[in-house]
Amino acid sequence: MKFARITGTGSYLPEKILSNRDLENLLDTTDEWIYSRSGIRERHIAADSEFTCDLAEHAARHAIESAGRKPADIDLIVVATTTPDQVFPSTACLLQNRLGIHGCPAFDVQAVCAGFIYALDVVYRQIQTGGSKCALVVGAETFSRILNWQDRSTCVLFGDGAGAMIVEASDRPGILSSHLHADGAFKDLLCVPVGVSTAYQEILAGRAYTEMQGKEVFKWAVTALGDAVLEALQANDCDQSEIDWLVPHQANIRIIRAIARRLDLSMDNVIVTIDRHGNTSAASIPLAFDEAVRDNRIKPGQKIIFEAFGGGFTWGSMLLEY
Ligand code: ACO
Repeated sequence: MKFARITGTGSYLPEKILSNRDLENLLDTTDEWIYSRSGIRERHIAADSEFTCDLAEHAARHAIESAGRKPADIDLIVVATTTPDQVFPSTACLLQNRLGIHGCPAFDVQAVCAGFIYALDVVYRQIQTGGSKCALVVGAETFSRILNWQDRSTCVLFGDGAGAMIVEASDRPGILSSHLHADGAFKDLLCVPVGVSTAYQEILAGRAYTEMQGKEVFKWAVTALGDAVLEALQANDCDQSEIDWLVPHQANIRIIRAIARRLDLSMDNVIVTIDRHGNTSAASIPLAFDEAVRDNRIKPGQKIIFEAFGGGFTWGSMLLEY
């Protein structure tokens, strides 16, 4: 059986940085409250003229270059996003056009903050079954566009960005397992409660905002993610001591620490970007992974776990050898 191996990574963050101190001037909040509850100090915010596909294109070009590939080598494009440029075509098709690629399948996946591992799961299975040899998978978000900037309980938590990977068929080990989950019974705890079909006028008026019952989401995320990482270890008959790096979805440093404790993993083995990126939803794992590959913390041959949790609820884990 073919392995699906990550051969290139890239990422992009918009130029504008919005710090907690900046937010103190806009909202009834403090740097101390935000940092102590979430671990966030600052986040990047897309310029008014910058859209999700722009972020995705930068990240994708970096990933293609780092894999030593050309756009023409790509035979599958999957983009995870909650904030597509258009209702349709998909952001993946827009990206395909920007990259000058023709003919290969291209589509979006929507699983909010778990979107990237959902997208990577699709690519992994396509490669394993011979449907793709060289895939581009991207997580890209302009989450700032679906935030109510008057709601201090949500807007301080999120940021914009994009991350990308090239995943290729290989005889060398790569992704070893993928476990995805969802439970729509929790649809109201973390959502944008309107959409194109139900309330188009709200969208036109720019009132499609994220709502979250933070405490409930927090409790659920800690339990579900802990179970998901143990599921990955058990499926691979792998002891936690064999894991070199945990690359978690970056929603809250307290959630990340809880998962590391459950894995008995030192925080020195956890890639953390939430302090500088905030929660970039589907972009957070590929952004964190790219940063750690580029600064040589993550090295070939190491064992890595990805985990993510998002609206839906959706969640899951992957274990891979880089
Ligand atoms: N500044 C100051 N005070 C605030 C702020 C703020 N920015 N936001 C809320 N508060 C106040 C509230 O009004 C509330 O006040 P009250 O008690 O007088 O009503 C109080 O602070 C709530 O504080 P805590 O109970 O201490 O908040 P908590 O510890 O629950 O932390 C947080 C809140 C950070 C949102 C946390 O619950 C969390 O991270 N939840 C999970 C988020 C997550 O994982 N999401 C999943 C991925 S996101 C996705 O899929 C789109």
